[in-house]
Amino acid sequence: MNTQSTSSLKSADESMRSIPESSELKSPSVLEFYDFLREIAKTPHLHARFLNTLSLLEYMGSRKILKSQRAESITLELLSHTAEEIRHAQTFKKLALKVGEGKVESYAQEHLFCGAEAAAYFQTIDQSAAQHLGHPDPWTNYLLTTLLIEERANQIYPFYEDVLASVGYPGHLKLIVREENSHLQDITARIEEITPLTPALLTELRAIEGAAFTRFTASLRKELSRAR
Ligand SMILES: [Fe+2]
Ligand SMILES: [Fe+2]
Repeated sequence: MNTQSTSSLKSADESMRSIPESSELKSPSVLEFYDFLREIAKTPHLHARFLNTLSLLEYMGSRKILKSQRAESITLELLSHTAEEIRHAQTFKKLALKVGEGKVESYAQEHLFCGAEAAAYFQTIDQSAAQHLGHPDPWTNYLLTTLLIEERANQIYPFYEDVLASVGYPGHLKLIVREENSHLQDITARIEEITPLTPALLTELRAIEGAAFTRFTASLRKELSRAR
């Protein structure tokens, strides 16, 4: 797998020894997202659609891994990561069906909450990583895209676990939280094998993810006030 990471990007001088902390952890949009979670959880039929949207994002994550990697790059680690993301999609779907009394079976738009905006969020990150790399390197693109998404998941899911517990669904995200944390650690270790992913590049990509997350949060809040 590491044969792909010895790309033309390599330069010992610029190599990253550690990945800096994301500065987005308590941004206004994060607090707004937390507010959104607390609010939507009070309205089961809308909440079910939002849970289904998270299921869609998890599904897109797993599909992206399989579609973006060449067969010779698929290792046990990648297969495990893919299987876990599929299971996350399944967990959110099961919960969506439970909360919504079985009404959100598919990923059709009427079963989602800001489904198009969620897909746009995912695609923005994936495309921005590819554009910034400036050359086709599926492995590096996978690592960067996954890093950004795992950082966000690790920020959001533990809080969401508490919100779900407060409306009668405790413990459903525990395994997901543990696995996303482990994915983040794995990805961080892999990225540190690649040089040079400079702090400046990561800062820039995190800013793009942060802006996409802010747009997604704004859409969610707008749709919630419209739908209620
Ligand atoms: Fe996941
Ligand atoms: Fe993950």
